[in-house]
Amino acid sequence: MKVGIIGSGTMGSGIAQVAATSGCLVKLYDTNQDALDKAKNALENILSRLVTKGRIEESEKSRIQNNISYVDTLKDLSDSDVTIEAIVENLDIKKNVFSELETFVSDDCIIASNTSSLSIASIAASLKKPERCIGIHFFNPAPLMQLVEVIPAIQTSNEVLEKATKIISDWKKTVAVAKDTPGFIVNRVARPFYGEALRIYEEGIADFTTIDKSLKSLGGFRMGPFELMDFIGNDVNYTVSETVFTAFYFDPRYKPAFTQKRFAEAGYLGRKSGRGYYKYDEKGAIVEP
Ligand code: NAI
Repeated sequence: MKVGIIGSGTMGSGIAQVAATSGCLVKLYDTNQDALDKAKNALENILSRLVTKGRIEESEKSRIQNNISYVDTLKDLSDSDVTIEAIVENLDIKKNVFSELETFVSDDCIIASNTSSLSIASIAASLKKPERCIGIHFFNPAPLMQLVEVIPAIQTSNEVLEKATKIISDWKKTVAVAKDTPGFIVNRVARPFYGEALRIYEEGIADFTTIDKSLKSLGGFRMGPFELMDFIGNDVNYTVSETVFTAFYFDPRYKPAFTQKRFAEAGYLGRKSGRGYYKYDEKGAIVEP
């Protein structure tokens, strides 16, 4: 199967690894050459680590790497059976890319979005064949997280839903089919997790390290809310919060916090920028709050 991935950032590069590991021929596209180089180097490092730990053979590493090519024009994806878009969380930009993509790919190519919070119906509306559009929502890091939400829009055909579900199952992931509503399942449930933690922090009830420690040691979470926001990216997480809040007609349950907004504006994006609520070394380990 030929898979085209649009956007080689955090999510696109992870999804490419998942598809390539399952034997698909992947083309990973980005407008930014640095992002492509970064994705290629990151995969080399991840796979080398797995070889060193004895988790995979050198031949498996080469097989996965050889299944991915890195391309800088959208037209290179024209022979794809399925494309998954993982670019910036902006509806207009996504719509432009989708309508351009549709002019290159075959009629039966599935065009999917990895959006966390935008309406699949509105993305699908940018296509001449909206029935081929579907949400395929991975979690970060895509190679490690088992769950994938599959979200049919009201325009999506049953055939596309069935095919998408089968592809994700073939990639050894667990599928949860959800309706096309803001935040789908996990991101909707997660909003109060971040939102309430941010309110506790803003009200001065506890600092964020205490909140994180409490939820980890007492709540049993693997990461506290601030660590997790840093991991996701404070820009990405803020945009999702704002989109879900707006999409629920400003329901106060989903109201974003100013702290989140300021961190995104300041470029304190979290692990990927070396500074968020915590500071990180070049390997992504926390060095200080
Ligand atoms: P990112 O910022 O790491 O990567 C986005 C990539 O898209 C960048 O490399 C950028 O150069 C590229 N790009 C931007 N505009 C483009 C265009 N017009 N054509 C081609 N490439 C373009 O973002 P990330 O975190 O990978 O998120 C991507 C999408 O996945 C967003 O829709 C986000 O909401 C969603 N998502 C993010 C998750 C996360 O934890 N970061 C989890 C699940 C979904």
